[in-house]
Amino acid sequence: MALTLEKVVTASLAVAILLVIVDGSGPHVAAPRPAPPPTPAAIAFQQAQAEAAARAEAVRRQAEAAQAVTQPSEEETILPEGHGRAETFGYCVACHSTAIIRRSHFSRDQWEGLMDWMTDKHGMNPLEGELRATIVNYLATHFGPVQAPARGRNPFLN
Ligand code: HEC
Repeated sequence: MALTLEKVVTASLAVAILLVIVDGSGPHVAAPRPAPPPTPAAIAFQQAQAEAAARAEAVRRQAEAAQAVTQPSEEETILPEGHGRAETFGYCVACHSTAIIRRSHFSRDQWEGLMDWMTDKHGMNPLEGELRATIVNYLATHFGPVQAPARGRNPFLN
């Protein structure tokens, strides 16, 4: 039996088919290639995006701060109840919170002086007439000098 070309080809094909069957994995699928490193243009684009986001965030914070100034979160009721509270709150929170008032303890004269000082030095609209009397009266009543407790009232000394 002569080794014809036809037989060699047939035998090779048979071996090849057998190999594929034994291997069992069928045609090989190319493994996914790792992503190529970012190009300089891609890096620049990402940086620009990050910078734009940071700028937008800064603008948002600034707007929030501005709103906090124009819309104080304090309510009038933060001040003790009494005649003149609404006037005092309305007139005095334009420039600062009431904290600066609530921590103060001044005599009537000192409050009077402070009204002029705020006008002279800090541009407060001059406070005059009835409104001034109402506000100063309120301040002197509720934020007057702290009195030392009378000695006789100390329960530990009685
Ligand atoms: C036009 C702006 C403005 C208005 C309105 C204003 N103040 Fe002031 N006030 C200031 C400034 C500015 C200061 C100084 C703040 C500082 O020193 O940090 C100040 C300081 C004060 C202080 C602290 C003084 C001290 O020496 O401890 C008190 C108390 C005070 N204000 C009360 C008032 C009261 C009460 C009113 C309402 C009648 C009022 N302010 C209205 C601007 C204003």
